[in-house]
Parts: sequence; structure tokens; C-alpha cells
Amino acid sequence: MLKDFLNKIICGDATDVMRELPDGSIDLCVTSPPYNLKNSTGNGMKDGRGGKWENAALVKGYSHHNDNMPHEEYVKWQRECLTEMMRLIGDDGAIFYNHKWRVQAGLLQDRSDIVGGFPVRQIIIWKRAGGLNFNPGYFLPTYEVIYLIAKKDFKLAPKANACGDVWEFVQEMKNGHPAPFPVALIDRIITSTTAQVILDPFMGSGTTAVSAVKNGRDYIGIEISPEYCKLAEDRIAAEQNQIRMAI
Ligand SMILES: C[S@@+](CC[C@H](N)C(=O)[O-])C[C@H]1O[C@@H](n2cnc3c(N)ncnc32)[C@H](O)[C@@H]1O
Repeated sequence: MLKDFLNKIICGDATDVMRELPDGSIDLCVTSPPYNLKNSTGNGMKDGRGGKWENAALVKGYSHHNDNMPHEEYVKWQRECLTEMMRLIGDDGAIFYNHKWRVQAGLLQDRSDIVGGFPVRQIIIWKRAGGLNFNPGYFLPTYEVIYLIAKKDFKLAPKANACGDVWEFVQEMKNGHPAPFPVALIDRIITSTTAQVILDPFMGSGTTAVSAVKNGRDYIGIEISPEYCKLAEDRIAAEQNQIRMAI
């Protein structure tokens, strides 16, 4: 039953938990999966010793996921997750799937192997502030992408289509999680839709839930790390408290 999951963070595996949810029960998925960043052709990030990447937040991976899967296995996993999300959203549902393009072995890895065959309607550019580049062979990457994967009847909220497809939001810095969304980015996504029930199967520090609460929507969060689940629950409670104080 959906109500058993509503407005909860479920500590578990994304695909296992999604399989327990009924078909068509979700209006909107908003998520950022692990990027498999430690499977990198550069040194330091891959072998964990840091090197030039010693200041990168993700050099140690996530608390319960090492972010270093063989590429084919990673692609298969992410396609399974997207397949589950597609089953869960109704005919007017959509998935906002955030990812990052990379250069691997000198070639652009644009994630088409993950999203190919899914109904990608638009690619939104999330322009971040600055970054690090030790490679003299290409320009400093300053953006991530958000694939808008939509079923046939999906429509934006009234007037949201006036917003362009390049969004500038500074990345979140003050958060115990190594790769959180900025709340403002998720506010933009959620308020651009009329979705009531919002799922994030890679909830991390709970940003999607915090934004859902802030905007009067329901959330379901799935996260493998008990540590990040606790962080998410604390952030949600703080948001609910702030709303109560403002009334
Ligand atoms: C990019 S982070 C998400 C960050 C989140 N958007 C936020 O604002 O904090 C990806 C998350 O996926 C989690 N994760 C990794 N493997 C998972 C799995 N099999 N099932 C559920 N969560 C998983 C990681 O622990 C990590 O917190």
C-alpha cells in the first residue's frame, strides 16, 4: 500500500524498495544517482589515495556505496532503476534524472547508454559555480545535466514553461553528505509541476523531501546509508519545525 511509504525515508536498496510500490502510484521522480565517479581513468579518485583530487568531497565514495562499479554493470543497474521509475509514474508523470557527463579515456561519456530508449523530452543544464580541472586536454566542466524523462500526458505547471532550460544554482556546501542537491534546484523542479507524490530513490541527505515538505507535497525517499537516512530525517524535521514556527 502506498500509504505505508508516504512521507517516509526507507533505508534500503533503491530497486528492491521501488518493486514494493504499486504501478502508477507516483506523480514525479526527482533523483541524482551515484555517478560512478570513482570508476575514472584519472588516478586519485579511482584508487582512493586522492592525489590531485584529495579535496574532492567524493574521494572516499559514499558511506555505503563505493561508486566504483564496472561501467557495464553500472549502466545495467541505472537502466533497471529508470525502468522501475517508469513503471511507478502514471501517464502524466515524469522523471527528473540528474547526471554528470565526463571525459573517460579522452572521450565524452554523455550517459546516452543509460537514458537511450527512455522517453527523454528535454535536457536541462544545471550550471554550477566553478570546479576543478587538472586536465590540459579539455575545458573546465561547469555543468551537470537533468534529463526530463516524461510520459505522454506530462505537462508543466501553468506558466512554468516560461523558464529557460539553463538553470544556474550554486552547489550546496554546508551539508554532511558528499554530493547534495541545492534545495533551490529541487524547488525549481517541484514548483514547475503539479505533482503531489514525489519519489527520490537515491535520497542522500533528503533534499528532495525537504523541498517537497516546503512546497506542500508528499515524498517517499529511499536511501541505502543509515547515516544519510538520519541526516535526511533531521533536515526534514527542521523544515517542518520552521513551517510550524512561521504559522
Ligand atoms: C548523488 S547522492 C544523492 C544526493 C541527494 N540528491 C542529496 O541531495 O543529498 C546518491 C545517493 O545514493 C545512495 N545510494 C547508493 N546506492 C544505493 C542503492 N543501491 N539504493 C539506494 N541508495 C543508494 C548513496 O548512499 C548516496 O547518498
